[in-house]
Amino acid sequence: MANLPSKQKAVIFNTETNKLSFTTSAALPSSTEEHLIKVHSTAITNGELTWAPFVNWPTLHIPCYDVSGTILTSVQNSKFQVGDEIYGRIHAGREGSACEYATILPSETALVPKGLNMIHAASVPMSALTAWQAIFEQGGLCSAPYVSDAGEIFGGQAKEKRVLVLGAAGGVGLLAVQFARIAGAWVAGTASAKNEVYLKEVGVDEVVDYTKVSVEEWVGGEENKKFDLVFDCVGKQSMLDGWFGVKDNGAYVSIVPGFKEPDGGKPKGVKSVWFVMDSRGEELEAIGRFIGKGLVKTTVDSVYKIGDYEQAFAKTASGHARGKVVINIGGDNE
Ligand SMILES: NC(=O)c1ccc[n+]([C@@H]2O[C@H](COP(=O)([O-])OP(=O)(O)OC[C@H]3O[C@@H](n4cnc5c(N)ncnc54)[C@H](OP(=O)(O)O)[C@@H]3O)[C@@H](O)[C@H]2O)c1
Repeated sequence: MANLPSKQKAVIFNTETNKLSFTTSAALPSSTEEHLIKVHSTAITNGELTWAPFVNWPTLHIPCYDVSGTILTSVQNSKFQVGDEIYGRIHAGREGSACEYATILPSETALVPKGLNMIHAASVPMSALTAWQAIFEQGGLCSAPYVSDAGEIFGGQAKEKRVLVLGAAGGVGLLAVQFARIAGAWVAGTASAKNEVYLKEVGVDEVVDYTKVSVEEWVGGEENKKFDLVFDCVGKQSMLDGWFGVKDNGAYVSIVPGFKEPDGGKPKGVKSVWFVMDSRGEELEAIGRFIGKGLVKTTVDSVYKIGDYEQAFAKTASGHARGKVVINIGGDNE
């Protein structure tokens, strides 16, 4: 193993003061069950600093669970080897990757697809796994598609289906709309006007500008404008408005805390579900095949250095990042 320093740079979240800080003297992690990795980049998830009540963080905790990096230690029975360039999503109950050296379970890990740079790789795992599980598992749009080495797409037959993604320009939304398109669905997404051209480029059929029209107004009570699957990545009033877009016997999936059914009840036969994503390396590998073949586009809103962590967290918290905010920790400026 390469010579390691005794201390490392890290962003620290204090769960008692709810404040972030920066240190150059954090301890290096060690684990026999997890790979030690040299972190290239990490990404922030909007709202992640509010998760303390649901996880068992120590008072001083390293945030950020999306990571790209290089494996430094081997783990028994792991298919990954020292030197592999990997990405993955670390479970939020453990220490994160806003630091130079982090650990990740083999089951959370996948090789970075060819052609995807390490900054973009860090933007993918949490959002991609959440979107994939929302569309194909929780939302039941159709079976998950698969792409062969020759670039042929199998499965994922949703040609007659309509999907609406609320918050289509966010990290999760941008991948969700592309997954639904790959499966053949007709896809609409809510976003402000500045994101319309970009969303059309990634395959969205109709952009609903939420600053001008609500889902209720856009649907106008017409049954044929309603959706088989509505996926909420925004919450609050937008989540309630989304109910006007769900067909009878359709599905409404949300990932934002506070999900509820409308006063007066939900449409007939609708499956409604709020869920927390599961970190699965093998699923990430399957998704990565689409990215590697250029069939799914990744989106990095902005890249910060670790010392500029406050600006990075503020950008995410603005709620208006297009795709993910990434912190480049140990990498060059690809
Ligand atoms: N349950 C889980 O497992 C799970 C996993 C991952 C994420 N999440 C949660 O999912 C949510 C979304 O996260 P994210 O990373 O995708 O994105 P995000 O950073 O929360 O969203 C940013 C995007 O939201 C758009 N937006 C803001 N207000 C909107 C509105 N009223 N209607 C439509 N779009 C709006 C913005 O577009 P404009 O600039 O055009 O307004 C921007 O592109 C967060 O709350 C996060 O905590 C949950």
